[in-house]
Amino acid sequence: MSRPAPIADWVTIPDLYRDPFPIYDRLRAEGGVHWVPSVGRYLITSYDAVHTTEFDQETFSANEEGSLQIRAMGHSMLRRDDPEHYPERKAWQPVLRPGVVKRTWTSVFERNADRYLDEMIAKGPGADIVWDFAAPYAAENLREILGFHNVHQEDLQRWSQTLIDATGNYADDPEVWAKGKRSFDEVDAALDEMLAWHAKNPDHSLISTLLRIPDYEMPIEKIRANVKMTIGGGLNEPRDALGVAAWALLEHPDQRRAVEADPSLWPAVFDEAIRWIAPIGLYSRQVTTDTVLAGVQLPAGAKLGICILSANRDENIWPDAAKFDIRREVTPHLAFSKGVHVCLGAWVAKAEVATVGLPRLFERLRGLDLHPERPAVIGGWVFRGMLELPVTWDAATAAVHAPET
Ligand code: HEM
Repeated sequence: MSRPAPIADWVTIPDLYRDPFPIYDRLRAEGGVHWVPSVGRYLITSYDAVHTTEFDQETFSANEEGSLQIRAMGHSMLRRDDPEHYPERKAWQPVLRPGVVKRTWTSVFERNADRYLDEMIAKGPGADIVWDFAAPYAAENLREILGFHNVHQEDLQRWSQTLIDATGNYADDPEVWAKGKRSFDEVDAALDEMLAWHAKNPDHSLISTLLRIPDYEMPIEKIRANVKMTIGGGLNEPRDALGVAAWALLEHPDQRRAVEADPSLWPAVFDEAIRWIAPIGLYSRQVTTDTVLAGVQLPAGAKLGICILSANRDENIWPDAAKFDIRREVTPHLAFSKGVHVCLGAWVAKAEVATVGLPRLFERLRGLDLHPERPAVIGGWVFRGMLELPVTWDAATAAVHAPET
């Protein structure tokens, strides 16, 4: 037996932005598949329903009609289904593999972490973890991985934010489109220059590697779209994972003490942080044929919002799902998605946040604490992360010089 989709006309976008979790709790309790008029999509909120969509690309296509992401960034692998999607994914893989992350990128992350921590300590004893550390650190890491030797990390931060804003420009604000278009053109110009440079000066970066894939030449439009998508997807997410994990530890001193006493727990901190608050909160899919999901009828052409923030809090999978708890049993969360689009940057993200960024932050800033007067602020539902994370530390004992590595 199937039923028409229940209508959740009580859901508003400002409420989702402020705190989506009570809304998602109710949507899951009511079955996990709803038509939500304010969003103009069916929202898929239960773990099981999300999981089903991720493993059936024939019914739940990533290649959405009228996609804002395609308008903002071009048509990347993220908006394609197989078989078209696969060769592009394969071309991106070599630079992001676990072995390459270990051999090549981890030492880059160490250098960058120390650089931005040095600058933060020099500025302190008070600063904002997101804007003084996590953002420039993630941006500089991505700049080096991509091989943009002709721009600064600030350029990547601006590109990432304006391209993401354009991707979420459901209000069709012309100013948002204009800023997105400016970044679109800037990325293309910088990329053209770097493709010529890397042709003569090969290195470990993604742009360099793309020029050397045997038997495959990626058309320039595809390179451009995928580079923009990687800028949009590879910067704000590790920044937000780092910010949320740091906030969670500062709010839970017992768990902070546990990981400071046993550094092998850092990967658990990372995974629990992105389970608890998934940096990519929602992504889109489109139904290709009339179907039924979790007992609810979905017509061909229906646009879906796959709500990872919600699925990762499903009580059927995680008891006390709203609690941050690094000691919970390991169950694979959905923050990196599953299926054919599972995140290609997961190993990069883990290394930059769990292996390097968080341990160094807590090791070097002794007495790190939330600012007594300026509260931490969190927001977002399509993407969610710390908007502000003001902290203080003990200036007398902060390690002013980076440890030898
Ligand atoms: C904690 C950090 C990160 C999170 C939570 C995250 C999350 C995700 C998610 C949910 C998807 C699938 C989206 C969809 O199916 O529509 C995805 C795809 C992707 N991510 Fe990440 N990501 C992170 C970091 C990174 C980094 C650092 C990079 C690159 C350096 C990256 C590169 C990619 C790429 C290229 C894809 C597309 C894969 C495909 O379509 O086959 N991500 N990511």
